[in-house]
Parts: sequence; C-alpha cells; structure tokens
Amino acid sequence: MLSKLKTLETQVREELDRVASITDLEALQIRFLGRKGELTQCLRELSTIPPEERPLVGQEANRLKGILEGLFKQKKEVFLGKGKTVLTRYDWSLPGRKTFQGRKHPITQTMDKICDIFSRLNFEMVEGPEVELDYYNFEALNMPADHPARDMQDTFYISDTLLLRTQTSPLQVRVMEKNPPPLQVIAPGKVFRRDSDISHSPMFHQVEGFMVGEDISFGDLKGILTFFVHQMFGEDIPLRFRPSFFPFTEPSAEVDMGCVICRGSGCRLCSQTGWLEILGSGMIDPEVYRMVGYDPDQVTGFAFGMGVERIAMLRYGIDDIRMFFENDQRFLRQF
Ligand code: DAH
Repeated sequence: MLSKLKTLETQVREELDRVASITDLEALQIRFLGRKGELTQCLRELSTIPPEERPLVGQEANRLKGILEGLFKQKKEVFLGKGKTVLTRYDWSLPGRKTFQGRKHPITQTMDKICDIFSRLNFEMVEGPEVELDYYNFEALNMPADHPARDMQDTFYISDTLLLRTQTSPLQVRVMEKNPPPLQVIAPGKVFRRDSDISHSPMFHQVEGFMVGEDISFGDLKGILTFFVHQMFGEDIPLRFRPSFFPFTEPSAEVDMGCVICRGSGCRLCSQTGWLEILGSGMIDPEVYRMVGYDPDQVTGFAFGMGVERIAMLRYGIDDIRMFFENDQRFLRQF
C-alpha cells in the first residue's frame, strides 16, 4: 500500500508538469482527488489492510492528500496568473517551429497582373454581382430565351429570372446602360458553370474588357490584345486571330497564342497544333448598343473575355485546374 501511494505521488507530479490548461487541471484533480478519485479509493481501502499497519498507512495517505491539494492549488494560481513564478521545464535545444509567410493565391496574382496591364492602358476597373439577372447574363447580350448559344454555358439557375453569372460579359451591359461613351473598362470576377474535370471548375474567374467610343476598329482590338499577351507572356509570343462566333459580338474572333511549351512545333499541351486558345473577343454587336440605349450608328467598340485559371495554368505550367481550389499548402507555397 505504501508503494502504491508513492507511485501515485510520482504520477500526479508528472501529469501536473504536463498539464496545459485550467480545464485539464480540473479534470486531473477530479481524477486523483475527486469523490471517486484514485487517492480517495486508496483511503477507502484502508479497512482491508491488517489493523497494525493502518495507522502508518493512514498517516501517509493523509499526508499525501495534503501535498497534492497544495500542488493543485499552486498550479491553479499559475493559470489564473496569481502564482509566484514557477519554473517550467523547457528544452531549449529543441529547434523552433517554422512559420510561413502568407502570400497571394496564384489566381489572385494572375488577376492582379492582368488588371495591372490594362490599367496602364487607362482601363477602369468595375465589379458586378455574382448572382445575376437572366436579363444581363443572356437577354441583353443578344441571347434571348431559347437562343441556342445558351447551351454553350451550363447555367446554375436560381429561378426563372435569376442565375449565377456564367460570364463577366453582363458588366458590358451594366456599365454601358449607366454611362455614356467613350468607355474603357475591365471587369474581373468569379463566374459559375455546371462543369467539372481537369480543365473545368464549377467556379472560376474571368476578366472582361471593352472599349467603346467613336471610330474604334478591329485594329484597336488587335493592338490592345497583342500588347496584353506580350506583357503577360513575353514579347516574342506570336498571336493569331481566328474567326469565331459570340452572340454579342460581330465579327467575333478567338485569340490563340503560340504554345508556351513547344514554341510552335507541336506538343501535348497544344494538341500538336502549336497554338493555345486564350480568349474570346469581337466588335460589340449593334443589338447590344440598342439594348443599352446607345446609337449603333454613332458608337463602335470591341469587347473581350478571358479565363484567369487558363492563363494562370499556362503561366505556371499547371495541368489540372482543381489544384487551385484544393488549398494544398505544398502547392500554394510555390507561388
Ligand atoms: N463571355 C464569353 C465566354 O464566357 C467570352 C467572351 C467572348 C467575352 C467574346 C467577350 C467577347 O467580351 O467579346 O465564353
């Protein structure tokens, strides 16, 4: 019994050393000194030992109880900030814990860079709602209900008239209906589509841009987008404007740039074509001007829209879009 008490004392002292919070301390106290605690249990067992041993063991048990109560009281005061300084045992030789400096997400960095290039060209930045009216996302962009082009964008509908915007193009309409030309605007933001695989994510980012005024031509579109690609990827990157179709631009063009990996000779990334598609663009359709109350005979202009994830993937050589959204520190720390 005496040795049992001794072990108990050592155990309590060790555990007290490790205890890190007042809650833990209270739990520990209950475990040893509580009504069903280990020491209390020992005191109860006194009746089972030979009568001649009882006085000594009893004395010892009570002494230990006093000591432990003192220790718990002292420790509690330390936690409550009232105690005398007690020396905790530290291992000064342990290496410190490394902390990492936070930094911007690669998508934010890419978006900042895109916006920075256009702001140097005097484009003004605007933002719009992610929950958008069908009217701005489709209708006013020359895509009335049942227009087949709506099929290209797998839409999350909230109701018949409300949806998660599938593109940043609604900002063209929102800005033009409130402001007279001339305008030079970029609109970065989140967009949503029901699509998910290694190159599609249900939420991704776009940057929209447009320029309207007098006598703005396809040549201006080419000049500005060429400047942008050269700033983003390097002066030696070739560009190609390929005829395409978007309901809100006429004529429309998709812009390809020379493959950043193979430099034109053909590889897996560019499907052996030597070219990578990076954005959609075109001259704004007269129908859109009518929707915002501009006179299509007075105003001309161009618009473009690009996917930020795609540009970031090409910039950093990433082949799976989902990496951006998994929040894996090992991935994020590389940027
Ligand atoms: N909104 C189009 C899309 O998400 C991209 C786009 C194409 C934007 C042509 C434009 C444009 O402004 O002129 O697929």
